[in-house]
Amino acid sequence: MAESTFNRFSWVKALAGVRHPAEWASTAGQPTVQVRLARLGDLEQLTEVLASSFYDRTGWLAWLYPLMRLGIQEDLKQRLKTERHGYACLAVVALDSTAPGETSLGREIIVGTVEIAQRQSWPWQATSARYVYISNLAVIQPWRRRGFAAQLLAACESLALTWRIEHLYLHVMEDNPGARQLYHRVGFEVFQSEEGMAVWLGLQPRRLLLQKRVSASSQGLQS
Ligand SMILES: CC(C)(COP(=O)(O)OP(=O)(O)OC[C@H]1O[C@@H](n2cnc3c(N)ncnc32)[C@H](O)[C@@H]1OP(=O)(O)O)[C@@H](O)C(=O)NCCC(=O)NCCS
Repeated sequence: MAESTFNRFSWVKALAGVRHPAEWASTAGQPTVQVRLARLGDLEQLTEVLASSFYDRTGWLAWLYPLMRLGIQEDLKQRLKTERHGYACLAVVALDSTAPGETSLGREIIVGTVEIAQRQSWPWQATSARYVYISNLAVIQPWRRRGFAAQLLAACESLALTWRIEHLYLHVMEDNPGARQLYHRVGFEVFQSEEGMAVWLGLQPRRLLLQKRVSASSQGLQS
């Protein structure tokens, strides 16, 4: 499918490969969970997921939290409003059937998110000519270790393939063992390690650029 024809159908196809853990979808009393495209109406919840995952609202820097939150919200609003080609924000949504809400099945609770964007490599960069860059992967605290980040990454891979792109890149900080373990587990490998004065002086951790190559055959996708 050509890039320009990317549409909702592509999404159904891209997300078809994302399985929900069976126990979540079927066990009585447990919410149903799905990965879908984020919308502008999700902005408030997405902001909360990102701000609470990346910034601490306790301690002596707590006063910075509302500012950071506002910055995240404004940036994300622009990205969602623009509906730029080759960009997507995904959300993991749980349906709370005990509360009235957006759907007939109940209220939607956004528990995780990720962003993915097509990029072109510059001549001096070692990255592949066309690639996708993954950013802002986050799952809120009580919903962690249930496989949702792994599902979001699987959805990113499927989407990249609908764009006919096989190379995925993302950054992770060296001192984020949980995220590094996750990326390692789903097949990302270190591509570059960014050095610098602050790193050498021990003032900040290294930023690692990770890479994964996917192919349509490994995903079971046919065009
Ligand atoms: C990193 C993050 C997105 C993981 O989300 P998650 O939904 O809990 O991840 P998953 O449940 O899909 O994890 C899948 C596997 O990754 C590894 N993993 C995930 N979080 C881990 C942690 N904190 N410690 C060790 N391993 C971890 C485990 O192998 C896990 O499988 P297991 O639970 O069967 O052991 C989440 O902890 C988060 O939002 N952190 C704060 C924001 C952040 O650091 N984002 C990444 C920026 S690069």
